[in-house]
Amino acid sequence: MQSKHGLLELRSISKQFDGIPALRHVSLDLAPGQVHGLIGQNGAGKSTLIKVFGGIHRSDEGEVVLDGIAVSINSPSDARRLGIEIVHQDRLLAPTLTVAEALLLGNEPTFGPLPVLDAASMRRFTRTAVQEHFGVDIEPTQLIAELSVAEQQLVQITRALLSAPRVLVFDEPTAALARHEAEQLFTAIRKLRERGLAILYVSHYLDEIQELCDVVTVLRDGRDVARVLVADSTPQQLVAAMIGGSTAALVPVSTRRAGAPLLRVCGLSAQARFEDVSFDVRRGEIVGVTGLLGSGGKAVVRSLFGLEPGVRGHIELDGSAYVPDDPRNAVRRGIAFVPEDRRAHGIALDLPVRENISLASLKRLVRHFMIDRRREKELVQQRMDDLQVRAPGTEAPARQLSGGNQQKVVLAKWLSTRANLYLLDEPTVGVDIRAKAEIYRVIDELAAQGAAVLLFSTDLIELQGITDRILILARGTLVQELVSKETTHQEILGWASAAGASSTLDRETVQA
Ligand SMILES: Nc1ncnc2c1ncn2[C@@H]1O[C@H](COP(=O)(O)OP(=O)(O)OP(=O)(O)O)[C@@H](O)[C@H]1O
Ligand SMILES: [Mg+2]
Repeated sequence: MQSKHGLLELRSISKQFDGIPALRHVSLDLAPGQVHGLIGQNGAGKSTLIKVFGGIHRSDEGEVVLDGIAVSINSPSDARRLGIEIVHQDRLLAPTLTVAEALLLGNEPTFGPLPVLDAASMRRFTRTAVQEHFGVDIEPTQLIAELSVAEQQLVQITRALLSAPRVLVFDEPTAALARHEAEQLFTAIRKLRERGLAILYVSHYLDEIQELCDVVTVLRDGRDVARVLVADSTPQQLVAAMIGGSTAALVPVSTRRAGAPLLRVCGLSAQARFEDVSFDVRRGEIVGVTGLLGSGGKAVVRSLFGLEPGVRGHIELDGSAYVPDDPRNAVRRGIAFVPEDRRAHGIALDLPVRENISLASLKRLVRHFMIDRRREKELVQQRMDDLQVRAPGTEAPARQLSGGNQQKVVLAKWLSTRANLYLLDEPTVGVDIRAKAEIYRVIDELAAQGAAVLLFSTDLIELQGITDRILILARGTLVQELVSKETTHQEILGWASAAGASSTLDRETVQA
């Protein structure tokens, strides 16, 4: 690497929360025309570091230097004025705004030649802006709340680009994106690098880091433990730096045995999403469902929890008929569901970690009409240990946890419910490698105890590693069922894309 002069330098930044260090003397140097990767386990301090120079947190020590001059950044608008734009991990767009409003609010003065005022030109502008960067057509008058997570992400990134920043930060931008959307994002990022922007890119996906980044900094327990040129490093080395030792086996060795069928699905259809899907899941079994965006696979899993309208077909659960029209009914029938969009649907940010985890199991914890606090504490602690939830304590509000740790809390909540059937939607998105292994172990254990698990995933290693069978959907149809041990990633992908990855279907999944 030619040693490029730092545009933005962080020098020995330290930050504590309530006396607990989150960052310890971290330095980082962002050069123009360079994509700098930032990796580390859940809770390592990545988002905190970004929030320091984004004006959200104030550091206890250290300095932020821009163009060789120390600057003080005390608010997000300070950061923005200095040309620093951040696409945060937690989506911050107001759900009640339209897409056009979300893009333009607070941005009007920076438009220069484009005086965007009337509704019509606002709409025209919005459409072109998103289209130009991502080749995706989003209706400007739609409400943010009506968009998929992926679409919200695209709007947020487009918004960041509007003020023509010099430093652009992405905090796990692809966690909610499908592969081809991620590709579009990478293309956009490469163009920005060519234009000389300094880019910081946070991700748990090491393949993305290798594909996109020039340099990578590894954080561990709030320290910068390694800085390497991507070209000179292997994924194994990066993983080792992140966890500070050797990498444990990711997939558990299982001794499960499948029992009697628990779930029988016959001719399940939902208009325009999937058609005539039939399969069984037995007790003790983990069945994977996969498919490209728009395939209907995700919708099938969600529909069983009563989340999809207009579902037809016959379902038998534990020997009696089941109509999936209401999540409350689903819970009563012993079904647990872990949604992909956990930040929006799974977690109460202001409640303590303890309540978030025990909420769904309260019935089991009641004794003599009172919650048995001791048992509650044991259960919560056990689950936190199982999934290695890193939190200041069981009483800390969930808001204080890092993004990945919040996800683990939602998983812990549902995994504590003793359901018969677990429906999991991308259970390990945004979760680091070691926690992934723990989640796999817990899922395996649930099945070993006689539960049935149906898991939608697009992670091939996960699919093949922890499931017994894999159901593949394409264009709303169940096209193949594979035995996990006997198949290959190529075969899975082959079937998933056999019907052709038509982009016209993408609009659909977004609702799915
Ligand atoms: N507002 C806060 N109050 C108290 N503690 C906090 C707060 N924000 C973060 N922390 C703690 O600081 C540590 C670092 O969190 P941070 O969000 O930076 O992690 P991260 O590397 O971004 O993880 P992830 O990959 O899960 O997003 C964590 O232990 C977290 O619990
Ligand atoms: Mg984070």
